Amino acid sequence: MTSLYLSCATTNTAISATPSSHPRPLLPKPSHSHFITHAKLTNRLHHVSCSSTPQNQNDETKKPTAKVVDRRNMLVGMGGLYGATTLASTPSAAANPIQAPELNKCGTATNLNNGEKLDINCCPPISDRIIDYKLPPVFQMKIRPSAHRVSPEYMFKFNTAIDRMKRLPKDDPRNFMQQANIHCAYCNGAYDQPGQGTLDLQIHNSWLFFPFHRWYLYFYERILGKLIGDPTFALPFWNWDNPKGMTMPPMFVDPKSSLYDKKRNQEHLPPAVVDLGLTNSTDTLQVVANNLTIMYSEMIRGNSDANDFMGQAYREGDESSAKAAGSSERGSHTSVHAWVGDFKDQPSGEDMGNFYSAGRDPLFYSHHANVDRMWTLWQYFLPSNKVPDKRITDTDFLNTAFLFYDENAQLVRVTVKDCLDNLRMGYDFERIDLPWLDYRPPRQSARAKINRASSTAAPKAAALFPLTLDGVVRFQVDKTKKGKADESLVLEDIKVDTTKLLKFDVFVNDEDDNPGELDKAAYLGTYAQVPHKSANNNSSTSSIKLKLTELYDDMDIDDDDTIVVTLVPRHQGPVLPLVVSRLSRIHRNRLPVVLDH
Ligand code: C2O
Repeated sequence: MTSLYLSCATTNTAISATPSSHPRPLLPKPSHSHFITHAKLTNRLHHVSCSSTPQNQNDETKKPTAKVVDRRNMLVGMGGLYGATTLASTPSAAANPIQAPELNKCGTATNLNNGEKLDINCCPPISDRIIDYKLPPVFQMKIRPSAHRVSPEYMFKFNTAIDRMKRLPKDDPRNFMQQANIHCAYCNGAYDQPGQGTLDLQIHNSWLFFPFHRWYLYFYERILGKLIGDPTFALPFWNWDNPKGMTMPPMFVDPKSSLYDKKRNQEHLPPAVVDLGLTNSTDTLQVVANNLTIMYSEMIRGNSDANDFMGQAYREGDESSAKAAGSSERGSHTSVHAWVGDFKDQPSGEDMGNFYSAGRDPLFYSHHANVDRMWTLWQYFLPSNKVPDKRITDTDFLNTAFLFYDENAQLVRVTVKDCLDNLRMGYDFERIDLPWLDYRPPRQSARAKINRASSTAAPKAAALFPLTLDGVVRFQVDKTKKGKADESLVLEDIKVDTTKLLKFDVFVNDEDDNPGELDKAAYLGTYAQVPHKSANNNSSTSSIKLKLTELYDDMDIDDDDTIVVTLVPRHQGPVLPLVVSRLSRIHRNRLPVVLDH
């Protein structure tokens, strides 16, 4: 049983240029073409509402509660218009960073799929000696290579290293399965937040996503290097953001290799092209165009602040099931998991398609090496006018701690603040073109004006919320102000069953009804999640915020009164309903994300 709650809102953004002066020797130079055209968007404040219905003072009392929706029961409910809400979590004076888990209290991890409960023991060996980790001085930069471009010698080394990892004693924390279990324990409910009762610790769907996985790969890489006596060994990245890297990298699909995993979608072996939109389109060229558009959207077009990309704040005492992933996590990251995992023959999409098992596929670490590369690119190489400040300096973020075993099987405590700069951690990435960097969709002025007839045919959003969405749905959203405004559409209170693969795309003023095509100005963004277990009966409530500013420009609809939003579900299998529950308005100055300038 699955339901999604959505709402829409707008933000007002003050934009200022904050140049990054970080020295980055290897990655490509940023392209400046984007912000020359958009430098004019400065310091504007606009109020735009989602609906013509006036706000009701007593909205809070009418806030709908999460409803369980039967799959066959595709109801469209009624809802109201709600006032400003807190999209990101409110910084509370009493908040603290999430503490490192207590290994001796590690419990059973679980997953559910179609009612089948899986109990998984993925707890690590216990050690009572924990060292606070200090980054060692960097004498030689490790360069992570593109997995499609590596030499036979490199493949041999990598293969040997993974093979040795698999042969380590089962209870050695550096053993291959032990390493895979790290992901399971941190993602499927094995740990509680220390001192917070049975509140789950979850490192996805929040600002911890990038830092946790960066540390995870950091030690994984060092362990592999140690096992082959090569401290310069660097993990390969799966370059799925470049057409030349959009198939599974060849070295992972040789059944005789230690890099092979049979629990993968057999239809997606090379030469199948990765489908970052999960559109199931059979038109390969269209899929490549979609992929580049998605990358441009999640890296550049859709983000107006650091949390839009990184994910929402997640502090001690917070319900992990009420957090929201950033654009990259829920976009390309989720799609690659789902595309590689086997949802046909495995109960829960194993291995890559479920968090508890994802780390059992060696391809996981190359997938995440590219996810990590996206973080670096975003931090240091993308136009800084799109997001005024990319740093999150909230101490609850910086002081969050995790535990890992290092290459010497020593248990170490690490913190987020020590992983913000990959160069300080001693690694960089091979320089590869970024074809998505300039992949802004073509202007669509001529057909962008949704014609009067179809615009009035679509119901007002306010009349639909809460909405159970069993297929494509379309509704009108009013703008209160004409002209150029920095606005975001916020889909809020998205209530999902976390054990399901769920995805939907959002379009604005899209008239052609060809949802297999994402490479157009009307494509606004995506919600998606990888199946996993969570607290709260495997349900979670999250939100997404999608910046509209560039879309308005590309479609020349600054001066319209109304936009028409289309939601297109993408998940495979039986149609799962979506519930659109409420509308809200969010003002920039109420977003409680603390950004230091
Ligand atoms: Cu921790 Cu890609 O997932």
